[in-house]
This record gives sequence, C-alpha cells and structure tokens, in this order.
Amino acid sequence: MPRPQKHVFVCTQARPPGHPRGSCSASGCGEVINEFMNEIQARNLFETIGLTNTGCMGPCTFGTSVLVYPEGIMYGKVKKEDVKTIVEQHLLGGTPVADLLVPAEVW
Ligand code: FES
Repeated sequence: MPRPQKHVFVCTQARPPGHPRGSCSASGCGEVINEFMNEIQARNLFETIGLTNTGCMGPCTFGTSVLVYPEGIMYGKVKKEDVKTIVEQHLLGGTPVADLLVPAEVW
C-alpha cells in the first residue's frame, strides 16, 4: 500500500442525547465522511488520499471536525457541501480552505 500524500481524519464520535459536549455524530459526520469517500472514489484518489474515521479530537462544539495531515490543518463545522471544496482546493490544490479553519485558540 503506497503512503498517502494527504490523510484526512473525520471525527465520528457519538454521545448520548443531551450530553453537554455534543458530538460530531450529532453534527452530521456520517454525511461528511461518506462525501469524502464519494469524492475519493469518483476521482480515483485511493493511492494518494487516506481517509480514516476517528473518535473525539477535542473541538466538539466545532463538529464535524476534520483533520488533514501532514499539515495538521483542523477544519470545523464541516458539512457535506464543504467536502468538494476541501478536496479540490486543499487535498489536490495544496491551499487550505481558510473559511473552514477552526479558530487559532482551538487548534
Ligand atoms: S466529538 Fe468530534 S471533536 Fe469531539
């Protein structure tokens, strides 16, 4: 298996309803990770883009949280509609999507 050029981690943590921290599961992470998979499949990026679901990465109030390495870029409040932009602008184009970055005090 070749080492991916970029690796995308999508938080898929769930918590019980009413939990004070909320969760990325409650914020629609399922749609987000499915859309990343759709984009990777449609563009045949399996050998260059890694995709992994994770537990909580910390900034729960900014779910769905998405972390991209090797840069260590953290995106917050990511929706399904944002995935294509992240793929085209950051993963393929090399420029992080400024509008989706979590605040500096968060990450
Ligand atoms: S639940 Fe996703 S970052 Fe905490």
